[in-house]
Amino acid sequence: MQIISSSTIQTWERFYRANFINSLTGFKSASLIGTVNKIGKTNLGIFSSLVHIGSDPALVGYINRPVKAAPHTLANIQATGVYTINHIHTPFLEQAHQTSAKYPDEVSEFEEVGLTPEFLDNMVAPFVKESKVKYALTLEEILPIKLNNTFLVIGKVQQVKLDQNILLPDGFLELDKAGSICSNGIDGYYASHLIDRFEYAKPNLETKRISRNR
Ligand SMILES: Cc1cc2nc3c(=O)[nH]c(=O)nc-3n(C[C@H](O)[C@H](O)[C@H](O)COP(=O)(O)O)c2cc1C
Repeated sequence: MQIISSSTIQTWERFYRANFINSLTGFKSASLIGTVNKIGKTNLGIFSSLVHIGSDPALVGYINRPVKAAPHTLANIQATGVYTINHIHTPFLEQAHQTSAKYPDEVSEFEEVGLTPEFLDNMVAPFVKESKVKYALTLEEILPIKLNNTFLVIGKVQQVKLDQNILLPDGFLELDKAGSICSNGIDGYYASHLIDRFEYAKPNLETKRISRNR
């Protein structure tokens, strides 16, 4: 095993350090965030810093990089108060990755990479038609992180659209069956498979597997 100190990490080349530190926190979900700007032009970007904030109310957060580095999604969410989060699947992984390129505001990543905007009900933010698990959110709070000029953007889940075959009777979503990908670092993508599920853990009670047939 190798031991690496923070002073060593500080000396590393920028991209090497970014790869290393981004891998350190482990596998993440990578999703596409769909928005529209003030004049209704659609925008799509890949984000992997998604975090579950709470289930009741249903709150999801993500970290937006400093405005200069990633301006459009954040500005659109601030302007319209709504956005969608769309799971990524292998057949459109390359297109999803390409949305991280710095396109100008007047260019829609949907058109550039060849993904299809889908509009539901009165929601102005576009979903990704090709995605099998997607949800719309309304903006609740943007918390600036002074340490590095990033933002924690928190939204409330308003509507979910998914392939009903992946929803189990207890509410669990079989994301491996949907083929939702996960990511590692800033450019690595993985398929997933379920190892096991366990009952709610309690002290002094034996760890119990959840039956696959229920
Ligand atoms: C795998 C992957 C994950 C990313 N995750 C994030 C993220 O969590 N937060 C972020 O601000 N940018 C992230 N990016 C970079 C954005 O996709 C990129 O800055 C994009 O251009 C933002 O678009 P926007 O200006 O339309 O918001 C990620 C890029 C890749 C390839």
